[in-house]
Amino acid sequence: MPVLTATKKRKTKKAPTKKPSKKLKAAAPSKNNVKPKLYASLVVQLLSLLKGEHDFIANAANFSALLFSSLPNVNWAGFYFLKDDELVLGPFQGNPACARIPLGKGVCGVAAQRVETIIVPNVHEFPGHIACDVASNSEIVVPMFDGERLIGVLDLDSPTIGRFDDQDAEGLNELVTVFVAHEERIGP
Ligand code: SME
Repeated sequence: MPVLTATKKRKTKKAPTKKPSKKLKAAAPSKNNVKPKLYASLVVQLLSLLKGEHDFIANAANFSALLFSSLPNVNWAGFYFLKDDELVLGPFQGNPACARIPLGKGVCGVAAQRVETIIVPNVHEFPGHIACDVASNSEIVVPMFDGERLIGVLDLDSPTIGRFDDQDAEGLNELVTVFVAHEERIGP
């Protein structure tokens, strides 16, 4: 079982970025409540998917499929779970990905170590970013907690520069909280 005890933080860090290269399309800043509405609808859909089922892996698999199929401009959505101080690949949708990420390595390992949500507008400017899909240009990683204990991270990639913002961070954190609260037995 996971061993790292962490204090829950709700901070979101945005990795610094330079001006996007001309070849990469940047996301338009969201000016309305489209994202909050979408995430509110995803909470309802997630609760409906989880209803009556308490197998952690089955639910995590459906959760990743819900995100992958519902969120626009996302090319990878899935989980890494903390096992023996390492992040190990869990259910996901997208291209095959690296199976293990040490704490402090890549965006996932840094988010897990700092126990905070990290938004990376341009992954090519994030030192130590682990490229699993060459199509990925931006990323968001949300730590998951069982109470105060870190259990893993939710990771989403996008081919669009600057795809993820604070509204995504808020929506994804809420979805993760709903997911963990539903589970009776955490972990594979
Ligand atoms: N980019 C991640 C690795 C996981 S893949 O994106 C699925 C990272 O730097 O930690």
